[in-house]
Amino acid sequence: LGQIKAADDQPGLATYDPGFVNTASCRSSVTYIDGEAGILEYRGYPIEQLAEKSSFLEVAYLLIHGDLPTKDQYDDWVHHITYHTFVHENVKAFMQGFRYDAHPMGMLMASVGALSTFYPEASDIADADNRHIQMVRMIAKMPTLGAWAFRHAQGKPYVYPDNDLSYSENFLSMLFKMSEVKYDPDPRIAKALDTLFILHADHEQNCSTNAVRSVGSSQVDPYSAVAAGIGALFGPLHGGANEAVLKMLRRIGKTSEIPAFIDGVKNGNERLMGFGHRVYKNYDPRAKIIKKACDDVFEVTGVNPLLEVAMELEKIALEDEYFVKRKLYPNVDFYSGLIYEALQFPPEMFTVLFAIGRTPGWLAQWLELVQDKEQKIARPKQIYTGERKLDFVPAEERW
Ligand code: ACO
Repeated sequence: LGQIKAADDQPGLATYDPGFVNTASCRSSVTYIDGEAGILEYRGYPIEQLAEKSSFLEVAYLLIHGDLPTKDQYDDWVHHITYHTFVHENVKAFMQGFRYDAHPMGMLMASVGALSTFYPEASDIADADNRHIQMVRMIAKMPTLGAWAFRHAQGKPYVYPDNDLSYSENFLSMLFKMSEVKYDPDPRIAKALDTLFILHADHEQNCSTNAVRSVGSSQVDPYSAVAAGIGALFGPLHGGANEAVLKMLRRIGKTSEIPAFIDGVKNGNERLMGFGHRVYKNYDPRAKIIKKACDDVFEVTGVNPLLEVAMELEKIALEDEYFVKRKLYPNVDFYSGLIYEALQFPPEMFTVLFAIGRTPGWLAQWLELVQDKEQKIARPKQIYTGERKLDFVPAEERW
């Protein structure tokens, strides 16, 4: 089709679709979304059921293997992931070299990329066993690297993994342990964190997953591809919205200020952060589950006073014609920042939590990509708008 040209100097038939708004880049059987109906399914299973009845590591298995594990498969999977939570001491030294105020996402991106140098065999992506061990390592080590990035900013010593604890409990231990005494996380907090990881585990061809696939299509090792995904997630339009929600709620401050704020939004002065989504034109199913998780967390931590502002804001917006007409509903970020703040995470860590949760999704999509015979190296066309056929004049004649 590219040969069909209006004239020789024309580019030929092409689709111009910035942001791939209407272009499918792949066939995928990992995640299904119906944005109009507010449906999200991983491998066909509704997110509501997985969030309520499964665990993050089981969901990770499901996403990567395509099916739920048997008891033996699950035990083996958890055993391997737990076994691989430690990182090489030189990775620790590498992380300790960052500036005291390094952003934890920058540290995470760099240290995941650095793992490719510790496991050079990862570049053999044609070998199924080799692919598998690298995916296990990445899911296992992500909380270790994320927790160490957090401790780094606080000037505290890094805490080694405790393999007697569950995935989320161990992460909490590496984040918050303050002495030699074994860390004893509240099971309600660990469960809420596990649920948040499940909710973030995949979301089909979002910006970071597209980055993983695009970089992975060059057949690079999975650490380098996932590091690219972390870079994409770092951006404020992707992973940073929950922080913006918190700032907005703090600025509004009390429920009596909401009507004036809504007027400002309707006048186009600003956006109601945590509302609206490119795909969901209905209530984001993840937001509903997070709203419920707020109750469990606040039972332990005490209620975040901004919750009242958030709930009233939601109520007013959902009844307002401006939002109804544009199908603007709360998205995953509307309530998650409130929980993260209650758990004493600084805003820079919110996206790290997202990255840990999204890792199995990135890997499942990467695995699908490298096994897909129809896939080619990602290399979009462009519509060239620059000059042509200029004559070069050497510098000494131009100056
Ligand atoms: N507040 C007020 N108005 C909004 C909002 C909002 N949050 N979102 C969209 N609108 C309005 C737009 O002004 C536009 O109105 P118009 O038709 O009168 O011009 C209409 O709704 C359509 O908006 P678009 O920007 O075209 O929608 P798009 O699909 O491109 O954007 C996005 C989706 C970026 C998420 C947007 O809704 C937004 O900025 N929301 C706030 C930020 C946010 O919460 N981001 C997190 C998304 S979830 C995630 O990434 C994990």
